[in-house]
Amino acid sequence: DCVDFSKAENFPVLKNDLILRASRGEKIERAPVWIMRQAGRYLPEFQELRKNHSFFEICRAPELACALTLQPIDRYGELLDASIIFSDILVIPQAMGLEVLMVPGKGPVFPNPLETPDCFTRLTEHVDVEEKLGYVYKAITLTRHKLGGRVPLFGFIGAPWTLMAYMIEGGGSKTLFKAKSWLWKYPAESKALLQRITDIAIEFLVGQVKAGAQMLQVFESWGGELSPQDFKEYSLPYIRQISEKVKERLASEGLEVVPMTIFAKGSWYALSDLSKSNYEVVSLDWTIDPAYARKMTNDTVALQGNMDPTALYGGKDAIREIATKMVKAFGKDSRHIANLGHGILPTVDPEDLKVYLETVQKVSAEIRK
Ligand code: CP3
Repeated sequence: DCVDFSKAENFPVLKNDLILRASRGEKIERAPVWIMRQAGRYLPEFQELRKNHSFFEICRAPELACALTLQPIDRYGELLDASIIFSDILVIPQAMGLEVLMVPGKGPVFPNPLETPDCFTRLTEHVDVEEKLGYVYKAITLTRHKLGGRVPLFGFIGAPWTLMAYMIEGGGSKTLFKAKSWLWKYPAESKALLQRITDIAIEFLVGQVKAGAQMLQVFESWGGELSPQDFKEYSLPYIRQISEKVKERLASEGLEVVPMTIFAKGSWYALSDLSKSNYEVVSLDWTIDPAYARKMTNDTVALQGNMDPTALYGGKDAIREIATKMVKAFGKDSRHIANLGHGILPTVDPEDLKVYLETVQKVSAEIRK
């Protein structure tokens, strides 16, 4: 036919809306399931494509990003209930003017991280999000078409504290002492930086929905490095601004007000606050007991998670057993979106992931009969 795949219109009709219904607290026949980092190194087809391209080259090429987004959907078929656009949380620091490299075996590296607030002069003053990150929008639009309505497509961002931490640490870190020392030495400048990131994040998420994203996830991967008090001061206000302003903007622009998920890894102490932050879904890492999370969130949100990603190394019987317990712990009447408690690890056997997906779908349907 004559549909233009570069335009965010005439998208195929969605055939599987389970995750959207679960997010909104509507009745579900079983728990929807997807996997953080489902497009990644554990898949041989990913490795094959990655051999010939650098990581950020793939992110910036909509055809390649789309191809990788579809890989797990093609492989697992109806065992997955959502897709997530292939990209990275670090595209925002790049858009702000910092260089980020993805070093094989090491992860992300900033050759020139922020050392003191004097380094703000190196940041772009007014970031034109469309100009800098329009490649993500193009990838989303293309992927919405190519998904053919099989499952909804997630857009995402890194939360401001996590991005600030990367911008100062210059990469992964065990203690985050550089980033956290900013909070003690330069609290006002830290907040100014968090606000700059927040403004871009809001713009970027609205743009992703305009381009075709049907759900949004915010990754506060380093939330758990903050004390409860510091989380309230340096993470939560920005996470809240993002959901509130994104939803306001979507409504005022006549766009679909899509469900939003917050994943604050390690921030078990913030569950109650997060459940009152205008997100439909609160994502749990594996250290949180689902019953405890239900209680702390007062049953007002859908919960996502939360099998320990390393359980996928336990062999097929152990995977079945642990996944069954996990599904039952979330219970039958409540809103549950199954996932791992963090991203899938790169050396997992794709067949073992399949056992997890099959078990979740089977058991979560059985307990609802
Ligand atoms: O399938 C998907 O989930 C979509 C794509 C996606 C990637 N990164 C691709 C990726 C998503 C949603 C992310 C989010 C992301 N990126 C987070 C938040 C989630 C989390 O894990 O807490 C973070 C912290 C990052 C930053 C980042 N990117 C790190 C720390 C690393 C290196 C760690 C690792 O696994 O190697 C990356 C690299 C990265 N992002 C890869 C992929 C597929 C592997 C890169 C490669 O091929 O070398």
